[in-house]
Amino acid sequence: MNTIDPATLQPHEFYRLLNSAVAPRPIAFVSTVSADGHVNLAPYSFFNVFGFNPPILVFSPSRNRHGHKKHSLLNVEEVPEVVVNVVSHAMVEQTSLASSEYDRHVSEFTKAGFTEAASERVRPPRVAESPVAFECVVRQLVPVGDGPGAGTLVVCEVILAHVHGEILSEKGTVDPHRIDLVGRLGGDWYVRASHDALFEVARPQLGIGIDQLPAHVRTSAILTGNELGKLGSVPALPQPEEVKAYRESGALGELLDEARYGCQYLPDLLHAHAKKLLAENNVQEAWLTLLSSERA
Ligand SMILES: Cc1cc2nc3c(=O)[nH]c(=O)nc-3n(C[C@H](O)[C@H](O)[C@H](O)COP(=O)(O)O)c2cc1C
Repeated sequence: MNTIDPATLQPHEFYRLLNSAVAPRPIAFVSTVSADGHVNLAPYSFFNVFGFNPPILVFSPSRNRHGHKKHSLLNVEEVPEVVVNVVSHAMVEQTSLASSEYDRHVSEFTKAGFTEAASERVRPPRVAESPVAFECVVRQLVPVGDGPGAGTLVVCEVILAHVHGEILSEKGTVDPHRIDLVGRLGGDWYVRASHDALFEVARPQLGIGIDQLPAHVRTSAILTGNELGKLGSVPALPQPEEVKAYRESGALGELLDEARYGCQYLPDLLHAHAKKLLAENNVQEAWLTLLSSERA
């Protein structure tokens, strides 16, 4: 393990570690406007949602290498309103282009080729191409230092959301494949949050916990930490009579024969079988399988 004290590095060196390890980060594509009406658009991955009653988004423009404030921050100091547009894969190259350090009076909508759509309740326009855009009022600015790299938290309350219809599922919720978001990692890396990158983890209903797993399961050489996590997420173990019924149902027939007539060790065979069931998210049957070895 390498242990690093940020005080021993230059800020930009520690920034590389922070940016690579705290990742992937969502991207806020932020439109703002200056008091004299110049529109600005810039991406910020120091960004997230921090509450939903009221709905709060926070992004953070860092001071540039000269310690100067970015245009987005100068603008919100003058006009405390923003639109946070999300970034889909179809937008990522143009979004990157919009991060160029154009002069303050130059609109990144024009330079990066995005379409301005008038907002309803705030002055900055939204990005028409973005699948979801949040009109926000800025509630607070929290400066954290004033040297190069110092952030200012821009605390925004969402007052209106715009959602493209084609990203909604039949149930009316945002479909992660259709919204096709991108995230930012360290260096020049991005991630596309769709296709094979997506997977589901069922929410536990007060899971029994890893500490409650039988010792042969907890210390299994076959099951991984993720698999133990799935097993520990159930609210209760199957009852002995359920396990008995499962054993007698013949579901494990071939496995039991293999163990009886071959040289395989039954718990290992059952752990390997449970592993396959867990890969299919069949946690209940995985448990019946694992307990079949105990109650043999
Ligand atoms: C995907 C992406 C994410 C970025 N995230 C941040 C960020 O969180 N904070 C920041 O200060 N700059 C970030 N940048 C750089 C700014 O977008 C860049 O400095 C831009 O010129 C700022 O524009 P402005 O001065 O018009 O506000 C990011 C750039 C990209 C491409």
